[in-house]
Amino acid sequence: MNERLMQSTGSPWLAGSAFPDAGALHEDTVADVCVVGGGIAGLTTAYLLGKAGKNVVVLEAEHLAAGESGRTTAHLASALDDRFTELEKLHGSEGARLAAESHAAAIDRIEAVARDEGISCDFARVDGYLFAPRDEQRDVLDRELAAARRAGLEVEPLPRAPWPSYDTGPCLRFSRQGQFHPGKYLAALASAVRRQGGRIFVHSPVKVFEGGAKARAETRAGHAVRAGALVVATNTPVNDRMAIHTKQFPYRTYAVAFGLPTGSVPRALYWDTEDPYHYVRLAEAPGGREILIVGGEDHKTGQGRRHEPDCFSRLEAWTRERFPEAGEEEYRWSGQVMEPLDGLAFIGRNPGDENVFIATGDSGHGMTHGTIAGLLLTDLILGRENPWAKVYEPSRKSLRAAGEFVRENVNVAAQYLDWVMPGEVGGAAKIAPGEGAVVREGLRKVAVCKDSDGKVHRHSAVCPHLGCIVHWNDAEKSWDCPCHGSRFSPQGQVINGPALGGLAPAES
Ligand SMILES: Cc1cc2nc3c(=O)[nH]c(=O)nc-3n(C[C@H](O)[C@H](O)[C@H](O)COP(=O)(O)OP(=O)(O)OC[C@H]3O[C@@H](n4cnc5c(N)ncnc54)[C@H](O)[C@@H]3O)c2cc1C
Ligand code: FES
Repeated sequence: MNERLMQSTGSPWLAGSAFPDAGALHEDTVADVCVVGGGIAGLTTAYLLGKAGKNVVVLEAEHLAAGESGRTTAHLASALDDRFTELEKLHGSEGARLAAESHAAAIDRIEAVARDEGISCDFARVDGYLFAPRDEQRDVLDRELAAARRAGLEVEPLPRAPWPSYDTGPCLRFSRQGQFHPGKYLAALASAVRRQGGRIFVHSPVKVFEGGAKARAETRAGHAVRAGALVVATNTPVNDRMAIHTKQFPYRTYAVAFGLPTGSVPRALYWDTEDPYHYVRLAEAPGGREILIVGGEDHKTGQGRRHEPDCFSRLEAWTRERFPEAGEEEYRWSGQVMEPLDGLAFIGRNPGDENVFIATGDSGHGMTHGTIAGLLLTDLILGRENPWAKVYEPSRKSLRAAGEFVRENVNVAAQYLDWVMPGEVGGAAKIAPGEGAVVREGLRKVAVCKDSDGKVHRHSAVCPHLGCIVHWNDAEKSWDCPCHGSRFSPQGQVINGPALGGLAPAES
């Protein structure tokens, strides 16, 4: 059985995107820089370092854009969803200004790379509209308008966003935002890395990370890359067991794409101020048609809403009320974002390691955060000054976010109570084909799922990272850990870190 046979969702970005052919790493090698992870952060870093003359090797566990970069909605926004009012409180007015400046520069850089490399990736400059659907939230917009202007963004208040069939109420219009097709962009970026002499290896999961004068990454197959610098761009830092994972928290987020009569809704980015919030854009579909992509319904991974497919139903209901012109559903998918406790990514030197760099904490702005990672890590590795280094420093102390730190880590600690709870169902007989549940067998907890043919898969329900009990995700047909976001296939193989290995067999 294919390891993802039960996976039920997919985005519009990967089919038809021409990624260069690549094989697995089959021997030891050396490079100036070894980049681990073939998403936007890893490929942008590899591209910019290659352009600066560095000899780069990229190691990807699966295929390029296999992670969240293939599951994004690809808004390119400097209007940050953690809000400038909050970022000012957490990072001061200069920190908020640097955050705005860096995200705007990332959009500029994507535009420049697409132009310089001749990449047809549907890049477009669009406006972004932030609206407050409920009366009591309207002062949020007034405060955000002032804070975003202080941060240096071009923004103006308007009575409503330009939706033809629905009055959003007052909104803010942010200029010079962007959108693109991430599959086309990343496929071309990978080809550019190759043209510069960079080497890309897929199906090469790294399991050992070592810092030092000659840093080292060793794949599960036992082949190693020695390099002057190691960049861990695996979305969540799989080289780190604890430190960063107490400062960022995994959330699932959902997206649905509907057919749309071309030109019926103005092309722009749209966001509301609800909690959880909604995000909307349009995109070109094959044949020149237009699709409307609506995202939202975020919740902590493995927690809260126990039936993930309901998140799609809620998104559809929300969309049909506001966009009566929306046609058939064409795609649905979900993914994971890492929410840093103070709203900004962690990009820079890995705390306590020599010549090891990380990029994580994307907070739903990973297209721009990943591009900032490319720019910032290139400067750090080349020994150049970068004005954003301090705000993204991974070892920073976020004292102003101490309340959030306590709240989130108490939530993580509470997940260990699952050890003493009864199983979710009495036994495998109660589990339908295509579903899974945790079953108690004496003192053990067993993750039991059935594939569509009714074949039973049994694994230990204990996450190999730090021992929380996994939960079944019925939308993605995966086992998700509620503590730090590790995820596993029905066959127990690891899909997302920080776990580096899979679930143990149930009978071990
Ligand atoms: C539904 C959804 C909507 C989103 N919308 C937006 C948006 O509109 N705008 C925006 O800016 N961001 C958005 N995001 C966030 C954005 O997509 C991500 O933050 C971004 O893609 C992360 O890029 P990355 O390169 O850090 O990680 P990834 O793309 O996940 O890449 C990491 C790679 O590392 C590989 N890997 C992992 N472990 C190993 C290992 N041990 N060895 C080798 N390789 C390994 C993985 O296979 C993966 O390919 C959204 C995310 C989701 C899920
Ligand atoms: S991801 Fe940390 S315990 Fe599972």
